[in-house]
Amino acid sequence: MTSSNPLADHYQRALRADEVLAQIDAHYPDGPTLHQLAPLDQLHIGGVAASARLLERLDPTTHVNVLDVGAGLGGLMRQGAALGFQMTGLDITHGFSVLNRALCSRVNQPDAPPLAWVTGDAGALPFADNSFDAVLFQHSLLNMPDATRVIAQSRRVLRPGGQLVMHEVVSGPNVAHLRYPVPWAGASEHSHLLTLAELTQLLENGGFQLEHVDDWSEMALAWRQRQRQKEQTPRQAVLSPQWVFGERFLTMGKNLVDNLAQGAIKVVEIQASC
Ligand SMILES: C[S@@+](CC[C@H](N)C(=O)[O-])C[C@H]1O[C@@H](n2cnc3c(N)ncnc32)[C@H](O)[C@@H]1O
Repeated sequence: MTSSNPLADHYQRALRADEVLAQIDAHYPDGPTLHQLAPLDQLHIGGVAASARLLERLDPTTHVNVLDVGAGLGGLMRQGAALGFQMTGLDITHGFSVLNRALCSRVNQPDAPPLAWVTGDAGALPFADNSFDAVLFQHSLLNMPDATRVIAQSRRVLRPGGQLVMHEVVSGPNVAHLRYPVPWAGASEHSHLLTLAELTQLLENGGFQLEHVDDWSEMALAWRQRQRQKEQTPRQAVLSPQWVFGERFLTMGKNLVDNLAQGAIKVVEIQASC
């Protein structure tokens, strides 16, 4: 699958959407659980546990309408829906939005609020002012060249008192030695990492008050090292990031460990209100 959007090409180049769905149908005829989908649809460091911690920062009774910016294949959306949040996923990579929707149709979540999928750009959100109670970014701001504009758009679609929660990669002290490819970029052209100080400053300049800032880098490294051990064992997993990234993921996974271990990147969680 190709597109005129080079970032979408990065994500869609090796994506085997039809084969993924056939694999899921063959192995999970009654529908996969969220944990069974996680190696495929949680395309960030920390997996289901990181998404759970992010969602714990919100309350489904007061943060009903939640926008996931750069939703990817929708792991966070389905986890949020299971907790009662009304999740909308926006992604610039159309092939991801289509597969995200197809995955949702296979997961049994009869009591969950309905989900919505939109292909679009975080820099020009196709939503009315004040339409969400919370906006989430999970390893997606890292792809966005104009973070100031994206943060202004998030502020616009949030209602007064709304919450912005991020689980993001930022640059570390040793960013000059960042090794590519990483899952979000084959080379530097698609990687737009800010330092934590730059990001928090942008949020404050954009009208947000910081509520919570946490450095998850140590946990992220330990999690990634465990994943790497699993990836190196010869057993063929039912689902893995290789269904999205192809063989490149073996190098991407190794580079993530090295980049975290050497301080080229950090993983942070930020909550801010407006
Ligand atoms: C590393 S993936 C993470 C996906 C998902 N948040 C997750 O954690 O599993 C980054 C995602 O951000 C999306 N993205 C990047 N730039 C975007 C933009 N300007 N607008 C909307 N989505 C974008 C990509 O298409 C991709 O799906």
